[in-house]
Amino acid sequence: MSEPIAITEQAVSDAVDAALAALATATDSAELRAVRSAHAGEGSTLAVLNAQIKSLPGDQKASAGKLVGQARARVNQAIAARETEVVALEEAQKLAAETVDVTALPTRRRIGARHPLSLLQDRIADIFVGMGWEVAEGPEVESEWFNFDALNFDADHPARAMQDTFFIDPPESHLVLRTHTSPVQVRSLLERPLPVYVIAPGRVYRTDELDATHTPVFSQVEGIAIDKGLTMAHLRGTLEHFATQMFGEGAKIRLRPNYFPFTEPSAEMDVWQPGAKGGARWVEWGGCGMVNPNVLRSAGIDPDEYSGFAFGMGIERTLQFRNDLNDMRDMVEGDVRFSQQFGMVV
Ligand code: FA5
Ligand code: MG
Repeated sequence: MSEPIAITEQAVSDAVDAALAALATATDSAELRAVRSAHAGEGSTLAVLNAQIKSLPGDQKASAGKLVGQARARVNQAIAARETEVVALEEAQKLAAETVDVTALPTRRRIGARHPLSLLQDRIADIFVGMGWEVAEGPEVESEWFNFDALNFDADHPARAMQDTFFIDPPESHLVLRTHTSPVQVRSLLERPLPVYVIAPGRVYRTDELDATHTPVFSQVEGIAIDKGLTMAHLRGTLEHFATQMFGEGAKIRLRPNYFPFTEPSAEMDVWQPGAKGGARWVEWGGCGMVNPNVLRSAGIDPDEYSGFAFGMGIERTLQFRNDLNDMRDMVEGDVRFSQQFGMVV
């Protein structure tokens, strides 16, 4: 049992004051529980005073009972009021802590960007679709027949040799990783009714070393137009339009005689790069020519009735010239900071 305390007005009001002072400092439910147990619980001063009433002389019991009873009621009311406040306070804190700002910008994870080569491919497709051409596709693992034979390559053409072409095992499969997009020329002619106006952007593979202007995996865009009466003038006009769309109104191109087994005559096409590192110069952009009659025959087309032209440009080179990029390796390293510079528009 706790020490007896005299039941005086002073003792009771001290106990009430102590309880109220402690309550004022209780800011959460744990603190509130501690205050309740110390000032209203079994061992509290007021409980001890209350327990002593029964041993008082009979005439004092009523007034002491009233004094202590009112004090206990007051403390219990104050605790209940504080409890309401503390619960509300705790709920508000919890809500604040769990708030999610849906408008905040993410700072930790980088946002990706489409690769500039993909954007440029789409852009090139748009230019030709705008002239009424269609977009075609072909497989990257291609048969030797489409990649070489149908394109009039001799059986001993040097491009078939191991230093240029990735062959697929086993050799009897006669499959290669396509070395250019030109096989899509023949596929398009076999699949589509004439006339044909088709472009085919896509990835190609060669055993080239990675350097500032070459990569072993790169992309080309092939174009083929077969119709009645097409001439080299149509080829030149189409390429000039394409070059202007890619490099601006002042773009200059030139055709240089060249050899491709699948075009005759053939040319390499250069663009003038006024801002090239080390001074203005012509740079090779792609190959082109009038489709060789043997290719038309591979696709079952009569070369006396139909003629046409074809071209194939490097897309990495296009991006390089368009954006004055010195090193093609930046395009293949996959660093998102490179892609982000282009935003969503090339
Ligand atoms: C061809 O691939 C022919 N098929 C193009 C063609 C199509 C001619 C239709 C006639 C008719 P060439 O090997 O020159 O041609 O490659 C064409 C372009 O691809 C080059 O001018 C260059 O822009 C790009 N290119 C070639 N090799 C690489 C490489 N390793 N890395 C990046 N771009 C390359
Ligand atoms: Mg070339």
